[in-house]
Amino acid sequence: MLPRYLITTTLLLLALSSGSDRSFVVDHESNCFRKDGQKYQFISGSMHYYRIPRPYWKDRLLKLKGAGFNTVQTYIPWNLHEPVKGQLDFSGRKDLFSYLKLCSELEILVLLRPGPFIAAEFEFGGFPSWLPTESKTISFRSSEPVYLKNVLTWYGELLPMLVEHLYHNGGPVIGLQVENEYGSNPACDKVYLETLTKQFRDILGQEILLYTVDGPGKGMLDCGTLPELYNTVDFGGGNITAHFDLQAQYNSGGPPVNTEFYPGWLSHWGHKFPSKSRTATANKLDEMLAYGASVNMYMFHGGSNFAYTSGAKGNKDATDFEPHTTSYDYDAPLSEAGDTTMKYWDIRAVNSKYGPVYDVPKNTTKKSYGMVDMKYWGSVLNDTFIRQCGSKTQNVRPLSLEENKQTNGVIVYTKVIAKPGTLTVGKVRDRAYLLLDGKLLITIKGSSSNSSIGLVPGKLDIIVLSDGHINTGHVHMENPRNYMKGITEPVLYDSEPLLNWDVTLLPLESMSCFQNVGQERSLDQQFLPGSIYIGQIAKTCDPTTDTFVDTTGWGKGVVFFQDQNLGRHWPLAGPQLTLYAPGPFCGESNSTITVHIVEFEQPAGHVILTDQHNLRGPVDHSQL
Ligand SMILES: *[C@@H]1O[C@H](CO)[C@@H](O)[C@H](O)[C@H]1NC(C)=O
Ligand SMILES: *[C@@H]1O[C@H](CO)[C@@H](O)[C@H](O)[C@H]1NC(C)=O
Ligand SMILES: *[C@@H]1O[C@H](CO)[C@@H](O)[C@H](O)[C@H]1NC(C)=O
Ligand SMILES: *[C@@H]1O[C@H](CO)[C@@H](O)[C@H](O)[C@H]1NC(C)=O
Ligand SMILES: *[C@@H]1O[C@H](CO)[C@@H](O)[C@H](O)[C@H]1NC(C)=O
Repeated sequence: MLPRYLITTTLLLLALSSGSDRSFVVDHESNCFRKDGQKYQFISGSMHYYRIPRPYWKDRLLKLKGAGFNTVQTYIPWNLHEPVKGQLDFSGRKDLFSYLKLCSELEILVLLRPGPFIAAEFEFGGFPSWLPTESKTISFRSSEPVYLKNVLTWYGELLPMLVEHLYHNGGPVIGLQVENEYGSNPACDKVYLETLTKQFRDILGQEILLYTVDGPGKGMLDCGTLPELYNTVDFGGGNITAHFDLQAQYNSGGPPVNTEFYPGWLSHWGHKFPSKSRTATANKLDEMLAYGASVNMYMFHGGSNFAYTSGAKGNKDATDFEPHTTSYDYDAPLSEAGDTTMKYWDIRAVNSKYGPVYDVPKNTTKKSYGMVDMKYWGSVLNDTFIRQCGSKTQNVRPLSLEENKQTNGVIVYTKVIAKPGTLTVGKVRDRAYLLLDGKLLITIKGSSSNSSIGLVPGKLDIIVLSDGHINTGHVHMENPRNYMKGITEPVLYDSEPLLNWDVTLLPLESMSCFQNVGQERSLDQQFLPGSIYIGQIAKTCDPTTDTFVDTTGWGKGVVFFQDQNLGRHWPLAGPQLTLYAPGPFCGESNSTITVHIVEFEQPAGHVILTDQHNLRGPVDHSQL
């Protein structure tokens, strides 16, 4: 086999001789990247198109470029693009290709991370919820045939659409990551990595940079790397010489690269909001850039986990299940709402020593619309509501949410109990409310094992909601015990399985299904989980101005602003108290502002639409 630098050089010559003057390659002799033949250091920031309202993409990218970043990095979440098997979706905020075109127009290079596993604190780490139901013996992130066939089918759709966006073909994409921190996966299946690499090469060609990303540890790099890929490391601090020396052992020459440098950190419900010092961040960045390293900052701008896109930490049996907050602010230099923080300006000052910086767009305006009274409408179990926004089915034994072909939201299992007895409910994910004849009996948390309760005859409703699927890839995510939502174990009545359930599926993706017919009622009864509240004010919703929904006083559930699902609220657990409602969510008919809340734990009389974001409220981990 030819030494790699010769192959690279040959390809470079081929590219030049074929008329293209664009190339992006690793120079294995001079230990650098070369763009169009010139030495190149990328200064990149992670920013996920799907976590940012589309009308704001340009603003955020200009702020990235303004701070002296020349490259943007993004994951591509498979589950967002193929929510139903065989039905691809690249619309709206999911329009990856328009994002790439915009980067190209703004002269920003792109690093892509197509997974298929992305982690990223994202719902199910980017895997579609239908994937584990494909086969009982499926094994994620390995060369197991059913898994691999599905991945290759998805890549067979995705990768050809990326070809025109590659740098040497005139686009902005300078490289793609193969898998994602694969060395942290104990499976350590090199055949799998090689198969993915072959597919990338077969479709994308030989010229594009393919790279890996792993933590700076020998064990991780041994498993996560391949000799034919450019192998990089990720870290937030420590001894950079030691980290890059280790990286060098896995490449035959080439530049030092930190593909995930952390200026902040991820956040969980019930845990204090994490903060990272701006001085430490700026100094470490400076040190790496002075060293000649190419760096990607994860995250430059985190954005939001709108709707049900937040994931959860969860290990074996999900016993340490810790769901992520709706905000993906990350304590990043650009805040969730796209504001420049002091960390931003510190980083811009560092970057300006290594390349050009540009004018920075202003913060978008924020508005306090004030208080919105929230009136009780009815229950999610109301037939009128179900007819509009849900569907009904039947299960012999209660099936999980996924087996009922739903991903998140709410599922209700209903059964008429004919005689007195003892009900035993095993694991439910992630929280169940047991109602008998419309009265709350008990709440079961996901952490509890079997709950028993005596019943008298009546109509039993078990309302279950999902807090998001695990995104931790070092466990068997495909194991039903780790991912399934809803009722996941047999329900017993006097020790016999209770069969033949009526099931109501309520995905609650948006409120556009809901036509508010009937009288708004005042709450003349005790609060019940799954209550719908509506608030409306006669003010023009300004699509150029952001606001925040302050959920202080409420318990746990989901908030809708106009038709849009802002995501989960859980101020009882904290620390996030406000949800980001970007101006573009105002929508077409914007002469009124409408807020819907589906609440499961504790209602309050109103919400406040404020100009202040509060992600640092008190926390109460016992709520989980
Ligand atoms: C950092 O690592 C390098 C290479 O392993 C070593 O020579 C150096 O002493 C380390 N520096 C510190 C401050 O530990
Ligand atoms: C932009 O917003 C951030 C965070 O909300 C704030 O700290 C900063 O002062 C704002 N910048 C300007 C120029 O108003
Ligand atoms: C819970 O009940 C199920 C049957 O529904 C049984 O298989 C399981 O062993 C029980 N678990 C515990 C911890 O008691
Ligand atoms: C369901 O909602 C409709 C419309 O508000 C109302 O007329 C009806 O009484 C409700 N049904 C129940 C069972 O509360
Ligand atoms: C919404 O409101 C603004 C005024 O704030 C107005 O200029 C705009 O035309 C309205 N309609 C739409 C669809 O944005």
